[in-house]
Amino acid sequence: MNRSEIIGLFDRYVVPSYARYPLVFARGKGARVWDADGKEYLDFGGGIAVNLLGHSAMAEILAKQASVLVHASNLYYTEPQGRLAKRLVELVGVEGKCFFCNSGAEANETLFKLARKFGNESGSRYEILTFQNSFHGRTLAGISATGQEKVKHGFEPPVDGFRHVPFNDLDAVAKAVGPKTAAILLEPIQGESGIRPATPEFLRGLRRLCDERKLLLMFDEVQCGLGRTGDFCGFRSIASDVQPDAISWAKGLGGGFPIGAVWIRGPYADVLGPGTHGTTFGGTPLACSVALAVLDALDHDDLLRNAREVGQYFIGKLQALAAKCPVIREVRGLGLMIGVDLTLEARPAVLKLAEYGLIGIAAGTNVVRFLPPLNITRAEVDEAVEKMTRAFSASVSP
Ligand SMILES: Cc1ncc(COP(=O)(O)O)c(C=O)c1O
Repeated sequence: MNRSEIIGLFDRYVVPSYARYPLVFARGKGARVWDADGKEYLDFGGGIAVNLLGHSAMAEILAKQASVLVHASNLYYTEPQGRLAKRLVELVGVEGKCFFCNSGAEANETLFKLARKFGNESGSRYEILTFQNSFHGRTLAGISATGQEKVKHGFEPPVDGFRHVPFNDLDAVAKAVGPKTAAILLEPIQGESGIRPATPEFLRGLRRLCDERKLLLMFDEVQCGLGRTGDFCGFRSIASDVQPDAISWAKGLGGGFPIGAVWIRGPYADVLGPGTHGTTFGGTPLACSVALAVLDALDHDDLLRNAREVGQYFIGKLQALAAKCPVIREVRGLGLMIGVDLTLEARPAVLKLAEYGLIGIAAGTNVVRFLPPLNITRAEVDEAVEKMTRAFSASVSP
């Protein structure tokens, strides 16, 4: 099928809930994708932080496990789920247990239920404080937790029990905690709204506040976790001494194959007891084997170091470009989670970059984010910056 035939299928048969770009991707390898006309792109969007090891990287393990056991059900035990839970607990480095699901929204839903169960058991508390400009997924509770009006519009009334407070403002959070508050949930680095990291003092202050007021501190690491910032836990790139009570993950965990997970710290790890939560597909042998292969690659290929070093190199190159390119207002980020704040609107800027063969992702209104595979090379970064230089100089010339 050609490009316009494929787009035609979408126009006719796919619910139009996405404002899609007119790009039709056909195949990918490593950090590159090709569209239906055979045009090559350097993919620095990574399918929105998903393709942790690049395109086609999971083919071998997928084929191998597919011929062994794909799905069994959570009515039974399977080795890959047990091994993956152990591995994630070891990577967090603090005693706890994991729950498996299929997406970031579902992982956060698990956190919401954890907070409610914990709050109800410790004194009729059910409220979760979240932050302005946060993003926590598209389920009804997810949009209620999300601190952005645009995702809620038309879906009123929201799920009760979420209140949004200003990010990086500890006094405001302390004032907002009330008798019904059970937990605080945040993205240590806000992704969708434009790559905005929490400050170390903020994370430390939230931990103190949660200890004082007996609240759960929960981190949504769906986008910023799993090595993206150069640390397995994104929050540790900000403040290595802070320890949350629960963490949600998804996106990169399966390197492109859907899997979500939650880690819950020891004292709260049995709050969600038998019959309280579940999912048919969560933690299948296939998904867990693929995730184990992703985590193996993080170790064996020293990808956390690569994310730190190449990320630093990339940020340096972007800052040098910003100095001579007036459309770039600011470059910010950690590791390979990088936002370029522009004087242009993000969506046309993303299209312009694609015209020059570079894929980035819009965030907020004026930010283009780059979330490339963690095995990206300096040479690929050089190529991306060269494409960006040409695209941005074209976008300001008459
Ligand atoms: C921080 C964060 N939380 C949750 C989600 C929702 O994840 P999913 O789309 O897998 O449901 C996202 C997706 O962008 C995210 O960035």
